[in-house]
Amino acid sequence: MRIGVYGGTFNPPHLGHITAARAVFELLKLDKLLLIPDSQPPHKPLPKGSPTAHQRLELTRLAGEQLGLEEKVETLDIELRRGGRSYTADTLAAVRELYPDDELWLLMGTDMFLTLHTWREPERIMALAGIAAFGRSETDTEELFAVQRELLYRMCPTARIFTLTVPGVVDVSSTDLRDSLAKGGGSYYLAPAVYGAILRDKLYGTDADLKALPLEKLRPVALSFLKHKRIPHVLGAEQEAIRLALRYGADVGRARVAALLHDCTKKLEMDEQTALCRRYGIQLDELEQHALKLLHAKTGAAIARDIFGVDDEIYTAIFWHTTGHANMTLLEKVMYLADYIEPTRSFPGVDELRAACNEDLDKGLRMGLEMTIQEMHDRGNPVHSATLEADEYLKGN
Ligand SMILES: [Fe+2]
Ligand SMILES: [Fe+2]
Repeated sequence: MRIGVYGGTFNPPHLGHITAARAVFELLKLDKLLLIPDSQPPHKPLPKGSPTAHQRLELTRLAGEQLGLEEKVETLDIELRRGGRSYTADTLAAVRELYPDDELWLLMGTDMFLTLHTWREPERIMALAGIAAFGRSETDTEELFAVQRELLYRMCPTARIFTLTVPGVVDVSSTDLRDSLAKGGGSYYLAPAVYGAILRDKLYGTDADLKALPLEKLRPVALSFLKHKRIPHVLGAEQEAIRLALRYGADVGRARVAALLHDCTKKLEMDEQTALCRRYGIQLDELEQHALKLLHAKTGAAIARDIFGVDDEIYTAIFWHTTGHANMTLLEKVMYLADYIEPTRSFPGVDELRAACNEDLDKGLRMGLEMTIQEMHDRGNPVHSATLEADEYLKGN
């Protein structure tokens, strides 16, 4: 395998890192990319008020997911576990132990490349990995790289050095970015989910009131709770919720908030779900105690209320979005169906369901409930009693 190793402070990980990593990944035809936030940079201390190493690790993991490379990108905590100053030569040696037979490439921006000869053990670094240096802006071109490349070849004649200018690279100064975050800006230079995590955890001097977030800030915060692959679904649900709310006269603002937060605990495992149920006093019936899929609606509603201060209408719309129940409110129906038919959904019958929703909300709801009941029967799974009650209720009307 050809593996890229991208270390750095990632304070915070921004679009400059992401665009460069993606370009190197493609140009060098890498099979894997390792992101390795350092515990403590060797040359200068982290600025005051920086997040903890573990928070930077989490932000880096989130930024890495935004590359859309799935399991080809991994964020490693090896420098955090080693602690102390992070020297690249030691990190590469540790990666070499993990991947003894693979080809390693060390990624770095121009400023790092131009000082590489002054790092600790540069010869060892170049023996362990090829160097992939990228310009921090489109004006960092060959003339800038050439002299340094010659110097490094003299130090280490067997070095492999690859330099590139990344088209469309985003030149971001982390210092400027931290300053603008503290002043309420900065979102432009960050992947939305990373920006959301910064707001959510009040990092870099941001101090958003999570209980009174405008939609343009609630959206990235909501995305920061999701697995990367679920982001299109939640954004699609928001769009569908707007459409259904307008069509049937529900509150559009509430519908959007419910849609953005409806799956906010979906990625949690069973033990984390049950811990939330205990914390929020959520009672589980026999079926729910074993059905992970059913729990996220309840824990998601609890988080939406506790952390984001949503009102009861939004709370119940999230609470019932998986099962439905008898005599649903308008907003509950909108949320249930927006989740079901949003534009990225593709399952047999989805177009018929969309048409029914467009014709009459209750007709769509009944069709959706019956499709769920049928699917559960087909899979040999039990149907939740609330779903059966919802269906009976609609039949009775
Ligand atoms: Fe859900
Ligand atoms: Fe969903």
